[in-house]
Amino acid sequence: MPQSLREIYQHIRFEGHYAYEFNFNNQDYLCQIAPLGTKRIEGWVIIVNDVSDIKELERMQSEMLRMTSHDLKNPLQAALANVDLLRDDLNDLTYQNTQHREDMGGFVANIERELMKMYRIISGILDVERVRIAKSHYEESSVTTIMSDAVDEIKHMAQEKGVKIQQYIAPNLPPLSCDRQQLQRAFVNLIENAIKFSDNDAMINIRVDHIVIPSQPSLLQIEIQDEGIGIPEDIQGHIFERFYRGAQPGAEHITGTGLGLSLVKAVVNAHNGNIRVVSQPSEGSTFYVTLPIQ
Ligand SMILES: Nc1ncnc2c1ncn2[C@@H]1O[C@H](COP(=O)(O)OP(=O)(O)OP(=O)(O)O)[C@@H](O)[C@H]1O
Ligand SMILES: [Mg+2]
Repeated sequence: MPQSLREIYQHIRFEGHYAYEFNFNNQDYLCQIAPLGTKRIEGWVIIVNDVSDIKELERMQSEMLRMTSHDLKNPLQAALANVDLLRDDLNDLTYQNTQHREDMGGFVANIERELMKMYRIISGILDVERVRIAKSHYEESSVTTIMSDAVDEIKHMAQEKGVKIQQYIAPNLPPLSCDRQQLQRAFVNLIENAIKFSDNDAMINIRVDHIVIPSQPSLLQIEIQDEGIGIPEDIQGHIFERFYRGAQPGAEHITGTGLGLSLVKAVVNAHNGNIRVVSQPSEGSTFYVTLPIQ
């Protein structure tokens, strides 16, 4: 829910439209606002939809996913621990038949790899659901520090691919009231994608700016730009959905669960921010995150 008309106007200036959800008489509504006119604003279009049924379905789906994932995590952890023991035992055993022993080692490694895949998916689901339902822990923080911690966390992946990360962080940024850990994870996910979907030795540019408009609340804008495979326009609208993985040319051999951007989106929403992407196939992508300073 916007805090003031100024906030709505500010979003419209940057994004061209504004959408927010509100609750009235125990019903959920989605309100979308866009200006009419090319050079000057000549009028407004405001559409209000009752989305209570959709919200309830979403809530049930999310609750079911969370409960199932939670219940699967413990047995999976136990299975992984046993695979570990099995591998150690196998190394200690002296088999007559070394071929048999190697085969068994291969089976154990396969089981472990597949269990690890399941573990990553389940942890991913739980992470997204945690951000969506948990109360965030907000504190006044420096986005400069959060961004540099995020870059530190992921730089080993960049180094492995020879990818260079260039940062421009505007000086004297005001502090942001935010959940540091969540925001860092969101930045890590965006940088990880930029690395993953770029060629070896590519360049990634990160910018953080303070956007001030007279007599309006200011914004922090975070830009993560890569020169990678890009995202075709017809899939741009889907990439923030849970489990969505693009099949654009160049992405065939890149692994993932399709949960990264849904986590980013959940974090940005929890901070009343906005995220959008500008991208051209084969030319690269730029993700823009705007966060209001309260
Ligand atoms: N920087 C990027 N360049 C090109 N495509 C991207 C980029 N970021 C996201 N995408 C596209 O959006 C899809 C969804 O991204 P998301 O981060 O949610 O999933 P993922 O990276 O495939 O898996 P995960 O993040 O769970 O490991 C990707 O599969 C890819 O098609
Ligand atoms: Mg990702």
